[in-house]
Amino acid sequence: SMAQAAQAADKLVGNAAAGQSEVMMVCAACHGADGNSTNPQYPKLAGQHADYIEHQLESFQKGRRTNSIMSGMAAMLTQQQIADVAAYFSQQKTAPGPVDTDQVALGKSIYEHGVPAVGLPGCQSCHGAKGLGDAAKLVPHIAGQHAQYVVQVLTGWHNGQAWGDGPHAKLALSVGQKLTVAQIHAIAAYVQGLNAVR
Ligand code: HEC
Ligand code: HEC
Repeated sequence: SMAQAAQAADKLVGNAAAGQSEVMMVCAACHGADGNSTNPQYPKLAGQHADYIEHQLESFQKGRRTNSIMSGMAAMLTQQQIADVAAYFSQQKTAPGPVDTDQVALGKSIYEHGVPAVGLPGCQSCHGAKGLGDAAKLVPHIAGQHAQYVVQVLTGWHNGQAWGDGPHAKLALSVGQKLTVAQIHAIAAYVQGLNAVR
């Protein structure tokens, strides 16, 4: 809650209205005015947990996560602007993504059961059956995310590009490394359509 957030000395309270004007000036060009990017190389931020957005922007600022576009974007933001844009995006509604019916069966199986042969647990054990993640544990909402972006992220981990060396970064790296390229494409297609798959 706002009160809890304000209590933590180093934690700023995000102002969604201020965040919205920052977003309209800078971020909307790629991520969409409401956080539902239309270009699938840019992640949807609508409905993402505020703390997770803040965590990722700080990772770009500190160089734990690097990207030719986002490292520069994050560098321009103050801590208060980070809290504000995170508040704004987290309050928007994720637009559903299209389902790729050819990939659903394999993707669903990995999402629910993982790949036992290589010791990979089902994605749902952390991200939840509906892909909503877990705000308190900094596990991201992934339901409806663009498949192209999910492939980009998982392929980076598969190839050993970690987002730092914290426990979550190591975990994510091992998820990517346990998946084959074909499995990455199937699971990304499933994640994109997760909201629409019953
Ligand atoms: C020119 C395009 C562009 C602009 C403008 C832009 N971004 Fe991004 N953003 C990207 C790309 C590309 C990625 C994916 C980076 C990667 O693959 O690691 C990204 C990733 C992110 C992520 C990580 C999301 C996740 O799911 O892990 C956050 C948070 C983010 N951007 C916030 C912002 C904010 C806030 C602004 C405005 C201040 C902004 N971006 C402006 C292109 C852009
Ligand atoms: C043991 C828990 C766990 C499992 C299992 C897991 N994840 Fe994650 N996932 C995480 C955490 C934690 C993060 C955040 C990583 C970070 O902050 O560096 C994450 C991040 C992600 C992201 C990046 C989201 C973004 O936009 O920033 C994607 C995509 C993702 N996971 C997909 C998957 C898929 C697909 C599977 C199954 C093959 C899976 N994960 C299995 C915990 C898990």
